[in-house]
Amino acid sequence: MEKKYYLTTPIYYPSDNLHIGHTYTTVAADTIKRYKQLQGYDVLFVTGTDEHGQKIQEKAKEVGVKPKEYVDKIVKDIKELWKTLDISYDTFIRTTDEYHEKAIQNIFKKLYEKGDIYKSMYEGLYCTPCESFWTESQLVDGKCPDCGREVHKTKEEAYFFKLSKYTDDLIKLFEEHPEFLQPDSRRNEMMNNFLKAGLDDLCVSRTTFDWGVKVPFDDEHVVYVWLDALLCYITALGYGSDNDDRFKEYWPANVHLVGKEIVRFHTIIWPAVLMALDIELPEKVFGHGWILFEDDKMSKSKGNVIYPEPLIELYGVDAFKYFLLKEFSFGQDGSFAKEKFLTRLNSDLANDLGNLLSRTVAMVEKYCDGVVPEPMETGEYDDELIKLAGEVPQKYEDYMEKFNFSNALEEVWKLIRRTNKYVDETTPWILGKEGNTKRLNTVLYNLCESLRIVSILIKPFMKNTSTEMVRQLGLSEESASWEKATKWGVTVAGQKVVKGEALFPRLDIKKELVRLNEANEKLIKERSKNKKAKEKEESKEEEFITIDDFDKIKLKVAEVVSVEDHPNADKLLVLKLKLGDEIRQVVSGIKKYYNREELLGKKVVVVTNLKPIKLRGVESHGMVLAASCDGKLTLVSTLEDIASGAQIS
Ligand code: ME8
Ligand code: MG
Repeated sequence: MEKKYYLTTPIYYPSDNLHIGHTYTTVAADTIKRYKQLQGYDVLFVTGTDEHGQKIQEKAKEVGVKPKEYVDKIVKDIKELWKTLDISYDTFIRTTDEYHEKAIQNIFKKLYEKGDIYKSMYEGLYCTPCESFWTESQLVDGKCPDCGREVHKTKEEAYFFKLSKYTDDLIKLFEEHPEFLQPDSRRNEMMNNFLKAGLDDLCVSRTTFDWGVKVPFDDEHVVYVWLDALLCYITALGYGSDNDDRFKEYWPANVHLVGKEIVRFHTIIWPAVLMALDIELPEKVFGHGWILFEDDKMSKSKGNVIYPEPLIELYGVDAFKYFLLKEFSFGQDGSFAKEKFLTRLNSDLANDLGNLLSRTVAMVEKYCDGVVPEPMETGEYDDELIKLAGEVPQKYEDYMEKFNFSNALEEVWKLIRRTNKYVDETTPWILGKEGNTKRLNTVLYNLCESLRIVSILIKPFMKNTSTEMVRQLGLSEESASWEKATKWGVTVAGQKVVKGEALFPRLDIKKELVRLNEANEKLIKERSKNKKAKEKEESKEEEFITIDDFDKIKLKVAEVVSVEDHPNADKLLVLKLKLGDEIRQVVSGIKKYYNREELLGKKVVVVTNLKPIKLRGVESHGMVLAASCDGKLTLVSTLEDIASGAQIS
């Protein structure tokens, strides 16, 4: 039977236009999937979207659509992006999928019946953008410790999960299975900042909004989004439904890949919930670092967003994936810069790899009519190259198992660079000129063989490039399989090479920077234009107000009983108005149109519930209404005389 491997990314919040930071987890997961597949595993890769919660409900309301409608559109875009990036996920779970919602209800009920969920009162602080509960002491400068934004007080009846009960088991998990959470630094953080202080029970339902999975036996409540979301990892396999075959087949997960900011949810709440359900724990959670932009978090509001689409359109998906996983150390934060991206493309991909392939193929064509020759005479440098080629796959594998993509690639590039050096050392063009065919044949064979190994090792990262290398080298699929990566001498003499285009053209960095900036700016503009157009359309619909809106404005008839010039302003008059028994002062900009005599004793209309303000130092409690057109202005009054203080509605 094939060995199973189960791997997940977080399920994404539906947010408009994901930036390159967002793609990090998914690109890494895609690479792991392809790597494990190469090794012969039957891999299941689950990703999806996290669509419930207050934040989404509020956003949908802002744009005036139903939450489901709002998320549907974004989920479509996210799927489109994964397609552009050639992400090889198997299951895309949405928390709004019916099977998931039903499973959540079943699981919630199960935990309630077991006594691990109970009803009580929640009083505390909530960060809506993070959908996180906090206590006063956890705040940093009074703000959410995760995102630094305002939190708000909330008090509501709620269901709680007995997280506290699992504190000791979690500590034990961390102590006995240090491999459970990687990298190590994150484990210390969880231990010191959360576990050692002891855990409070976790509020797992909300009543102040309704966009979520209803608690099955109490439908005023919706299930807390994080519980809803985390459980995806098992509901996606059919857990909690009538058919849990896939769950039996694939669980426990081999790895949950997550960004560092959500490690807490995945290594404290998630294992505790699994313990409560008597489910085996996942083997590993890996908390990767953030991709920053010039050391700052990427965000639309900061205007420093870099979208993946222009990078892919201009330089291809392989270059994009390679850069993300080579440039940054997966466990740590890294800073994105377009110049770094272009420089690396030139040095690693165009110069080192692309050049090695094209000159190897060109020499086989030139000296051997395009047929890979039989090696005939060994010589200096061969052993060193062959030895390195023998060591690299094992080192690569060790790094891959630790999700150290950057070092794994570095190993491959050691072999690529060593092979380029081998070309310079053996100077095949001189061997050709001298007619030293025996030695030349061996050199060319070794070059092909080294490239064959490279083509296997880069496959999980750069599928297209690997395929193109295999094609140009004239390799069979069999000779480019994983088992053959550690063997030297697999290339069959007589196989025909095929000259092709350069894998990666050399770039003029200055020019490309301009092109790339333009493409990114263009996309940003397009996207904000689309958004504005949409908002405009929506605001048309919103031109109407309801009677409730109108009722908010309190209008009354008032008699002008005193008129004085404003002490500090030429255009203003200070009026005293009588509204029934009440006298109030209103400052009005009508001096140009009315004098004292014209106003005294007149009945006007005044907005009475306008927030009082000081106008040039004089208090004004309301506003008199006037009609104006073409430079003419006239105060509003009633058709017939009516007592001052009369309500207008
Ligand atoms: O957290 N650098 O979803 P999400 C690196 N719905 N990774 C980044 C990043 C950046 N600049 N920006 C985002 C959620 N990510 C929850 C998960 S799982 C049960 C629920 C990564 O859309 C982030 O770290 O905010 C996470 O791994 C992924 O994008 C989705 O984040
Ligand atoms: Mg996030």
